[in-house]
Parts: sequence; C-alpha cells; structure tokens
Amino acid sequence: MEEVVLNNGEKMPLLGYGVFQVNNEDAYRCVKDALEVGYRLIDTAAAYGNEEEVGKAIRDSGIPRSEIFVTTKIWMSDFGDEKTELALEKALKKLDIGYIDLVILHQAYADYYGAYRALEKFYKAGKIKAIGVSNFYPERLLDLYLNMEVKPMVNQVECHPFYQKEFDINEMKKLGVVPMAWGPLAEGGHDIFNNSILVKIGKKYGKTAAQVALRWNMDRGVIVIPKSTHKERMEQNFDILDFKLSEEDMNEIKKLDTGKTEIIDHFNLDVVRMLNSVKI
Ligand SMILES: NC(=O)c1ccc[n+]([C@@H]2O[C@H](COP(=O)([O-])OP(=O)(O)OC[C@H]3O[C@@H](n4cnc5c(N)ncnc54)[C@H](OP(=O)(O)O)[C@@H]3O)[C@@H](O)[C@H]2O)c1
Repeated sequence: MEEVVLNNGEKMPLLGYGVFQVNNEDAYRCVKDALEVGYRLIDTAAAYGNEEEVGKAIRDSGIPRSEIFVTTKIWMSDFGDEKTELALEKALKKLDIGYIDLVILHQAYADYYGAYRALEKFYKAGKIKAIGVSNFYPERLLDLYLNMEVKPMVNQVECHPFYQKEFDINEMKKLGVVPMAWGPLAEGGHDIFNNSILVKIGKKYGKTAAQVALRWNMDRGVIVIPKSTHKERMEQNFDILDFKLSEEDMNEIKKLDTGKTEIIDHFNLDVVRMLNSVKI
C-alpha cells in the first residue's frame, strides 16, 4: 500500500474507506468487507453514528490492530476544552480498539481552538496517535497552525476532479499538513462515472472513471477514502495500485475543475446555520 508520512513520523495509507451515510445495520458488514478487500484505513466520525459497528468489525477482523489506521472526527456541538475531552473519551469507548490513529475536528466552526487543545492533550497522553482538522480553508488552517503547539497533521476537505483545490492543497503541503479528500467521487455528482475525459483516460489503462478520479488525487499526494456499500465497488475502488497517470492525463483532468463545491458550500450562511444546528 502506498503511504504518506505525517509530520510526526506516523505512516498513513493513501487509500482508505469511508463510512459516511452507512447506517448502523450496514456498517459492520461494510467495514468487514472493506478490510477483506484490502483497505487498511477506515474513516468514520462521531456524527456518522457508526463508531461502535466500525470498532467491532475491526476487532472481529483478525487483522492486527497495528496494521489498521482508524480516523474519527469530533462534531462541533462537542467543541470546547472539557466538552471535547468528554467526546474523545466517548469515541475511544465506542470504537474500543485501544488507541485511535487520527482524530480530526469535523468543521472549522464553534470553539475549535478549545477542541484542538483537547486533541493536543490526548495526543500527548498517547491515546491518539495523530491530530488534524477537516473543512479548514487556507486562512483558518494557517491561523490554527501558527497558534498551536502540535501542528495539524491532516486536513480533510472536499476534493475531486470537479473541485480540485490546487491552491489549498499547495498551501497545506507548505505547512506539512497532509491533504485528505472527502467525496473523492463527488458523491456521484456531475455524472462523474460517465465523464468523457475520465472514461477516455481510463480506457488506456483498462480502468473506470471512478478509478481514474481516485488515482488522480493519489498521484497528487492526496489521501482518498471512497465510500461504497457494494463489495464489488469497494474492490473496483481499491484496484488502483497498479497504474499511475501520465503528466498529459493530469493536465487533461485539470480542465474538469469548476472551482466550486458539488456537495456543501461552506460560504453559504444557511449552511453555517444548518451545521451549527446539528447536535449529536
Ligand atoms: N469531513 C467531512 O466533512 C466529510 C464529508 C463527507 C464525507 N466524508 C468522508 O469521505 C468519505 C467519502 O465521501 P462520500 O461518502 O461523501 O462520497 P464519495 O466516496 O465521493 O461517493 C460515494 C458515492 O459513490 C458511489 N460509488 C462509490 N464507488 C463507486 C463506483 N466505483 N462506481 C459507482 N458508484 C460508486 C456510492 O454508492 P454505493 O454506496 O451505493 O456504492 C456513493 O453513492 C465518506 O464516507 C466519509 O468517510 C467526510
């Protein structure tokens, strides 16, 4: 498996499996399937409501704990020094896998400074091996970076061929923060699976549009965590370790960038209100 090295020396797979919108009944089976397929990075969140099932699937898999990298996220209603400490204890208990490899703050809203201080505390105590953020745009990421002692190791953001975020990713890399793409298949939007450029490039390598989209991010050093509840799609999304895109392919894909979100617009004030109203 291709890996990236975080700024504290921890290694993290470049390809993983995400469980957003995987309900409780399916999560156990899906994570077991994903581990069987070969995924060794699993991305969950308190807000997904499936940490218990994810943890159980990992424990039951028979795969040594040290070979699996687990990410979870703290939701904003749990942000703040003491509240985040309680949320971290809850996540450790629900997952029940000893330690957590990476904990990230789900959104750049509410008291994320207090929340980050709690992450630092648990990181220093060895209960979590790495810390980071999600949905942080460059100016907030830089501000946090400049003000905190333990520098964020990962920033998970929406990123796919229609929203390439080249500036943001370059800024992350300058700070030594590893970019991680959520929605790497644009959640199926923009007719991604039939996109003529992705399909054409895929034909050269015997790959699908989905596989090209995932490979493209990995070739930029961006971690991808595609979600699927179908095992054959999990297999397809994992079968991308035997090819790399050419410079010409990368330049072709550049043309697909719309510079806009396909999924959630953090600059829309109704979205800020909606996210703040979600309590878990
Ligand atoms: N930090 C954040 O704010 C945030 C936000 C969103 C997501 N995430 C994380 O990122 C992960 C991935 O993002 P996402 O789940 O939003 O979207 P995604 O991975 O871009 O797309 C998932 C969608 O694509 C379909 N799909 C997957 N592989 C396919 C294939 N090979 N061919 C055809 N259809 C395919 C899935 O359908 P089926 O399931 O029916 O196969 C599902 O509808 C999440 O699971 C979560 O862990 C984080």
